[in-house]
Amino acid sequence: MSTIFPGYFISFEGIDGAGKSTHIDAFGKLLQDRYPDQEVIMTREPGGTLLGEQLRNLLLESPMDLETEALLMFAARREHLAQVIEPALKAGKIVISDRFTDASFAYQGGGRGLSLTKLNELEFWVQGREKGALLQPNLTILFDLPGSIAEARRSKVRAPDKFEKMDLEFFERVRQEYLRRAKENPKRFHLVDATQTQESIWNGLKDLRINL
Ligand code: TYD
Repeated sequence: MSTIFPGYFISFEGIDGAGKSTHIDAFGKLLQDRYPDQEVIMTREPGGTLLGEQLRNLLLESPMDLETEALLMFAARREHLAQVIEPALKAGKIVISDRFTDASFAYQGGGRGLSLTKLNELEFWVQGREKGALLQPNLTILFDLPGSIAEARRSKVRAPDKFEKMDLEFFERVRQEYLRRAKENPKRFHLVDATQTQESIWNGLKDLRINL
């Protein structure tokens, strides 16, 4: 049960190549089977709306000033919340998003060096609700692994986008910021050791207790 809305909000996070995409759809199906009366909505960031997907194309391909990048990420997020996430949570649905605000802290903050003060302000602006409440995922599943292993996995499967072209040090900084956010919000985060085999990761996800 969300603290603000009756639905339940889950985000999947991790550095590129950590393996979250391998499991996210299956996890959505698992929850849909387990909770047949509650619709499960699958979405992603940047993206999730028509405008958001247009911004995604720009964000993933065009080099840009760091603050422009952060503002566009949060602009896409505002639209995503307004059009998709909040209406679904109000209607009591389960929303699963492939990335959310932790990715902005990790990539624009940890990776590219945007100040945490600015990121906190943007987070509050876009996710702040009445009486100082902040809309956050109820659960964030973080796929964690060393940057070097993720890099080796990435090079096998796909042509890199703008972020995936970054070097190992960048991804180590991204990883450390994810871990800092996880330490700061231990109740919200569930850490997955993404160096495990796909099978053991999936078994762990299946056993994850969710209190709707
Ligand atoms: P990703 O989710 O990995 O999608 P795909 O599996 O199709 O590559 O790609 C999204 C990229 O956007 C990823 O490199 C992280 C980056 N990103 C940010 O830099 N900041 C953000 O706030 C978000 C949501 C994503």
